[in-house]
Amino acid sequence: MSEKIKKILNQEEFSKSDLIELMKIDNKEDLILLFKKAYDVKSKYVGRKVYYRGLIEISNQCIKNCKYCGIRRDNHKVERFAMSKDEIMQSVKWIYDNNYASLALQAGERQDEEFIAFIEDLLKEIKILSNGKLGVTLSLGEQTKETYKRWFDAGAHRYLLRIESTNLNIYNHLHPMDNKHTFEVRKKCLEYLREVGYQVGTGVMIGLPNQTEEDLVNDILFYKQMDIDMIGMGPYILHKDTPLGQEWENIVINEKKRVELGLKMIAITRIFLKDVNIAATTALQGLDPQGREKGLLAGANILMPTATALEHKGKYLLYDNKPGIKDSVEKAKEIMDNNVKAIGDEIVYGKWGDSLHFKNK
Ligand code: 5AD
Ligand code: SF4
Repeated sequence: MSEKIKKILNQEEFSKSDLIELMKIDNKEDLILLFKKAYDVKSKYVGRKVYYRGLIEISNQCIKNCKYCGIRRDNHKVERFAMSKDEIMQSVKWIYDNNYASLALQAGERQDEEFIAFIEDLLKEIKILSNGKLGVTLSLGEQTKETYKRWFDAGAHRYLLRIESTNLNIYNHLHPMDNKHTFEVRKKCLEYLREVGYQVGTGVMIGLPNQTEEDLVNDILFYKQMDIDMIGMGPYILHKDTPLGQEWENIVINEKKRVELGLKMIAITRIFLKDVNIAATTALQGLDPQGREKGLLAGANILMPTATALEHKGKYLLYDNKPGIKDSVEKAKEIMDNNVKAIGDEIVYGKWGDSLHFKNK
């Protein structure tokens, strides 16, 4: 066990070099100390509580072409789908009836008026169905400020838009420049979301080719600088039908290390930002059967059990070997309930579980 790590973990404030030191931890004893400290900070600032966001993956149509993602525009092997309003509302009703209190609508990106109006109508229907009692998160990519405002006014409260990586070389390598897919636009969108009034969520992929510990610390500093309320991040996972998946020999770190790095990111983000909401993501579970529990023990407090209808689940594949695609929504809930109970956290039903960071402003 290193005295240096012990000393850093006892501090209240952390410099960038402290954070890099923590990100570089590679021995078991120090890792245990780090996760314990993160769990203590979670207990103190947000409680040993877990909130569910029922996730509905409403469509895999996408105008973007991110080189890592299985549903990128140029992957013609994907069978595209878009759920009808009725289908989505059935999932919404299931989430409402099961007292999750919050849901998240996720899809590939579309910016046409038909899509924008569809979402707007859908949000209004959700509001009517639940009497305004469901917390609604959107994860629908880059849009204009006007679109974000229309959706906010129609009943959405939170928005997730990952920055993916704050290292510009990595960002540009992963995102072809067509469709104005630049870091500046992505960052501007996060600013629009804040100005419109959303609780703003972002996150990154972890264990990308050529990504260093310092890059990951810069990602955490970006969360702080942007005053982010919610964080969803997870390890990068190969998808064989993508350009990055085919460059796989560039992946210098193995799956176990990527999971470890993902958990360190959660822990250090919790220790540094304290009162934000942090999700233990499906990607973590995708690389480690115990990924979700480990995420909660490293400081995460949000889970997103899928409520996507079984017939569409298998088509929303951002990466290979996505877990749970054969589970019914009931089964997904049962598994998650048991995961949380196993580590002794409490699942809070019926409450929104807003980011305390947002409330404390
Ligand atoms: N591995 C891990 N995460 C991925 N995402 C997309 N493709 C992958 C992949 N291959 C993440 C991105 C995106 C979110 C919806 O899913 O971070 O923002
Ligand atoms: Fe589309 Fe999102 Fe996949 Fe990029 S990561 S291709 S924007 S679904």
